[in-house]
Amino acid sequence: MTFHIGAEKGEIAETVLLPGDPYRAKWAAENFLQGARLVNEVRGMLGFTGSWKGNRVTIQGSGMGMPSLSIYVNELIRDYGARTLVRIGSCGAMQESVALRDVIVAMSASSVSTPSSTIFRELNFAPTADYGLLSAAVAAAERREVGVHVGGIYSSDTFYDERPDLNEQMTRHGILAVEMEAAELYTLAARHGRRALAVLTVSDHLISGEALPAEQRERSFGDMIEIALEAAFS
Ligand code: HPA
Repeated sequence: MTFHIGAEKGEIAETVLLPGDPYRAKWAAENFLQGARLVNEVRGMLGFTGSWKGNRVTIQGSGMGMPSLSIYVNELIRDYGARTLVRIGSCGAMQESVALRDVIVAMSASSVSTPSSTIFRELNFAPTADYGLLSAAVAAAERREVGVHVGGIYSSDTFYDERPDLNEQMTRHGILAVEMEAAELYTLAARHGRRALAVLTVSDHLISGEALPAEQRERSFGDMIEIALEAAFS
């Protein structure tokens, strides 16, 4: 047990999928894992461990935003020995070429700040995905009937943004989409020598203003979960 995770040592797998939403962790465990068992419900941040094609995997909610994800990822790495951490989540598209339901495989994650920013002082660290996971996820995505984009994303500190100029600069510099967690996940994985990746589904579009209705999200989230699992165990 840790401050925020109630699982016993050994109840968390070395491979962890991290959706922001704890109910998406439940849905993914019920639909994609065999023998899934609830291993955490502290603060309602559900976590499940089961297996996929004979491989042990945990699906643990991370909450929204980098401060929340940082708590779970620190404890998963330091106390439970997680080695491969794949964020699965939604994002808002920032380019015309990206459509609703497309999958984004995030090569790098820009940010204004992360919970780790203070340790870097004047340095601008570049949070980057694990290349082996990234290339396996791209191969897995290309085997499916889903639009896939590989490139930089923006990990924002806010959903309700009072600085639209920041999004404009990200779009201008080719950033594909915005979400709120990946930069800190990549930074923590780098610090501890672990593998990390973010695979995201486009749920809304910042340029067109479109958004996926809730009932249409499941199918595209299913593709993303399978891509994440295939990448983790390739
Ligand atoms: N902004 C930030 N995070 C998000 C968005 C967004 O538009 N969509 C999904 N996650």
